[in-house]
Amino acid sequence: MTEKVEIALCMGSSCFMRGNNILLRALEDSIRENAWEDRVALSGLRCENRCGQGPNVFVDGKLYQGLDAGTLLDLLFERLGRPQGGKPSIRF
Ligand code: FES
Repeated sequence: MTEKVEIALCMGSSCFMRGNNILLRALEDSIRENAWEDRVALSGLRCENRCGQGPNVFVDGKLYQGLDAGTLLDLLFERLGRPQGGKPSIRF
């Protein structure tokens, strides 16, 4: 059985407006485009009072702060492999 990459996005209003709204959409698109539904566990978190450094994202339990969508998808591709035909476009 393949382990899933666990991604948890802070869905508090500060992180959401600082970029997790965009990261969420980019992740959902990428999961769908690459049929990674069984390989990625995506979840949301409440505010953990680290708002000033957000948007906050945990990938396999490690906290990342201030990521843009391209960097987050690169982390995902490192774990799952790049899709054939190169990196998919990121739509905003
Ligand atoms: S809104 Fe994300 S830590 Fe507060």
